[in-house]
Amino acid sequence: MPAHRVGCGRRIAAAAGIFVLLGFFSACSGNEASTGTRDAQAISMGSALYQQNCSACHDANDLQLVKKPPRQIGLFQKPALPSGAPATDQQVKKTILDGRGIMPPFKQTLDEGQVNDLLKYLHTR
Ligand code: HEC
Repeated sequence: MPAHRVGCGRRIAAAAGIFVLLGFFSACSGNEASTGTRDAQAISMGSALYQQNCSACHDANDLQLVKKPPRQIGLFQKPALPSGAPATDQQVKKTILDGRGIMPPFKQTLDEGQVNDLLKYLHTR
């Protein structure tokens, strides 16, 4: 009889352990999934914003400009932007908001969230 009780207790403990583990894993993967989705949404928003606001210059080959807009590929992979300014989120944000040379400022056009989405997208190019 006492042996039976011990066995039972173990089984309950094991079952409880599995539930705790399951809960832990599902909570974790749940969080990761929603962060991933949020990021994916930001990146696709950023991509659309880029097509609307930046691509016409930065992906163009036929602009008769004195200074060619630099390609925005691997922007954050190098230590410096084409101008020599540091390739940081802060600097690129400033460029977008204030403009640079003949690049127009976007602070009237894009809000904070849109600029952040754009930055997320630029990190993927
Ligand atoms: C009217 C054309 C035009 C548009 C639109 C434009 N750019 Fe530019 N951009 C330029 C030119 C030209 C330069 C080079 C400026 C310079 O260094 O004189 C530049 C430079 C940059 C640089 C590099 C700055 C540096 O320090 O070297 C970044 C980053 C940038 N643009 C991002 C963007 C983003 C993001 C958008 C869209 C929100 C955008 N640009 C829209 C023309 C444009």
